[in-house]
Amino acid sequence: MSNKKLNVIHLNTVDSTNNYAKALLKSGEPLPACTVVYAECQTSGKGRLSRSWYSEEKNTLCMSLIIPCVHKPQVTLLSALGVHKALLKLGIENLRIKWPNDIISGNKKLCGILTEGTEQGTVIGIGLNLNTTLFPSDIKDKATSLKLLTARDYSPEDVLRVVSEEVFSLLEETDYSLTENALSDYNILCGNIDKEVLWDKDKKGICTGIDKEGNLLVTTQEGTEKISFGEVTVTGIY
Ligand code: BTN
Repeated sequence: MSNKKLNVIHLNTVDSTNNYAKALLKSGEPLPACTVVYAECQTSGKGRLSRSWYSEEKNTLCMSLIIPCVHKPQVTLLSALGVHKALLKLGIENLRIKWPNDIISGNKKLCGILTEGTEQGTVIGIGLNLNTTLFPSDIKDKATSLKLLTARDYSPEDVLRVVSEEVFSLLEETDYSLTENALSDYNILCGNIDKEVLWDKDKKGICTGIDKEGNLLVTTQEGTEKISFGEVTVTGIY
């Protein structure tokens, strides 16, 4: 959907847009629908599993969408699907989703998503590499950006609009759950399917799909396992 009315809170610098958005929710201040916290510069970005998130001023889109819904895994997966749709609208093809919510190109990460719940609602933090061409040595083999993929420069504000519209629209359309269509789209795009998956240090199996609660389904020698949280290492993807 285009021209959705967004309420963008535009900050110059912040530690983490997720922290800012969570504090807003907790303050109880009434928030208009489709509120997005956007920072030009994020100094202490957080990733999943207590990792940090690398970002560069003007080169990384750092934003957090606020939704009036309790935190649930389906929101995390739908957000990835929404970001994927937005990137397709911007002409970026051949992207996949690494469960639960990384957007990847080949075996490199383009976008990471950190969803966090509060009693008042959920924050969907999106970090999208736009114009970075040189990543720090520890992530340079695992990260990519829109500029590296297309040789073009991207305006954070323009990309923010398209991504926010797609994510908010998809969450509304699906009522925050993995509908049959959304699940089918996700399964088609999921880069883990048919690949070997490693988890819990020594467990391994072949991923067969995602169920409607958002779990990863893995066939092992003992049968089918459902993986609902934690890190999964997929052979062939960073
Ligand atoms: C991950 O890949 O582990 C998730 C990365 C999420 C990064 C974004 S940037 C905007 C928002 N604010 C944060 O502190 N984190 C998210």
